[in-house]
Amino acid sequence: LNNGLARTPQMGWNSWNFFACNINETVIKETADALVSTGLADLGYVYVNIDDCWSSLVRDSKGQLVPDPKTFPSGIKALADYVHAKGLKLGIYSDAGIFTCQVRPGSIYHERDDAELFASWGVDYLKYDNCYNLGIKPKERYPPMRDALNATGRTIFYSLCEWGVDDPALWAGKVGNSWRTTDDINDSWASMTTIADLNDKWAAYAGPGGWNDPDMLEVGNGGMTLEEYRAHFSIWALMKAPLLVGCDVRNITAETFEIIGNKEVIDINQDSLGIQGRKVHVSGKDGCRQVWAGPLSGHRLVVALWNRCSKAATITVGWEVLGLESSMSVSIRDLWKHEDLSGDAVASFGSRVAVHDCEMYIFTPVSASRSAV
Ligand code: DGJ
Repeated sequence: LNNGLARTPQMGWNSWNFFACNINETVIKETADALVSTGLADLGYVYVNIDDCWSSLVRDSKGQLVPDPKTFPSGIKALADYVHAKGLKLGIYSDAGIFTCQVRPGSIYHERDDAELFASWGVDYLKYDNCYNLGIKPKERYPPMRDALNATGRTIFYSLCEWGVDDPALWAGKVGNSWRTTDDINDSWASMTTIADLNDKWAAYAGPGGWNDPDMLEVGNGGMTLEEYRAHFSIWALMKAPLLVGCDVRNITAETFEIIGNKEVIDINQDSLGIQGRKVHVSGKDGCRQVWAGPLSGHRLVVALWNRCSKAATITVGWEVLGLESSMSVSIRDLWKHEDLSGDAVASFGSRVAVHDCEMYIFTPVSASRSAV
C-alpha cells in the first residue's frame, strides 16, 4: 500500500501469542518499558500492538467502540501518549466482520467511525482480523477500512489478517502494508515449518510497501528448542516477514534476547532492497537439508543452511543455485557466530548443521578467481 509506510517489514511486539485475552493497560505499559530497557526498541522493535480483547463487548449509545473499563480504564489515548513519550508507536486491533474472533464488536459497516476514533486516539497501526465476516470475500471487506484510514489524515500502518484466504498476495498489495499468508502460527516446530513453506510460495509479491506475513514470532514462548527458535527467526528475517515479537518481553531470557536481538539478522530483514529470500535448494530425505537464500543490497546475498532432518547434517550450497559463476570468490560472514570466515570460498560452501538449527551467512562476491570477465 502506497501510504509511505512499510518500506521495510514492520518490527515490534504484539500481545496475542503470549497473553491472548489476558491483557490490560499495565501489561501494555510494562511491555513498552521493557522494549526500551532491554534495547529491543533501539534495535527497531517500535510497534506496541494490542490484539483482540481490548474492547468492551458492546458499542456505546453513540455506536462507538469503547475500551474495556475493567482492563483499560485509562483508555487507549492515554496508552498511545504513554508509548509515544517513549519513542514507540501504538497498534490496535479490529475485525472486518461483525465481531472480532473473541466476540468483541467488529468494524464492518463502521469503518469510517472506527478509523476516526483510532486516529483521534493517536493509533499508529491497525491489525484487521477476519472473523464473523458474513461470508463476504476479503477482497471486498478490506479496502473500505484502507479508505477510511486514509481519510483520517493520520498515517496508520494497515495490517491485513485474512489468514491467506483468497490468496491475498495477488490483490492486497494495493490494500495493505502486509497480509497474512496462512492460518495462525502456534508454538511448535510443525506449525513453524509448515508456515515457512506456505509463505515461500508468495515471495515474488513482497516488496517495499507490502509484505507477506507468515504470522508473529513464537521465539521465547517455550514450545521449541533454541535451535528451532534460531531457525524460526532466521527464516522470518530472510523472508522479509514482519518481526513482531510474541513473548513476554518483561521477563525475557538471555537466550531469547540473543535470538531476537541479533542485529546482523535484523539487518537482513530490514535490508533496503526488500526482496523476499526463498527456498532455493533441497536435498536429503524428504528434502530436509535446505538452502534458503536471497539478494541483498550491495550485490550481497543472504544464505541460510537449514537442517530440518532428525539429526545433524552437512548442508552444502553450490554457486549455481545462487546464480553465481562457479569461479567466483566469495567472502563469508556468519551471522550467528558474528565472525568472518577465514579465506574466501569458491564454487561451493558446506557446513555441519545441528539438528533443526539454521546457520545464516552473508556472501559477498569478491572477484572471479580465475579468468575474470
Ligand atoms: C485470529 C488471528 O489470526 C490471530 O493473530 C489473533 O489476532 C486472534 N484472531 C485474536 O482473536
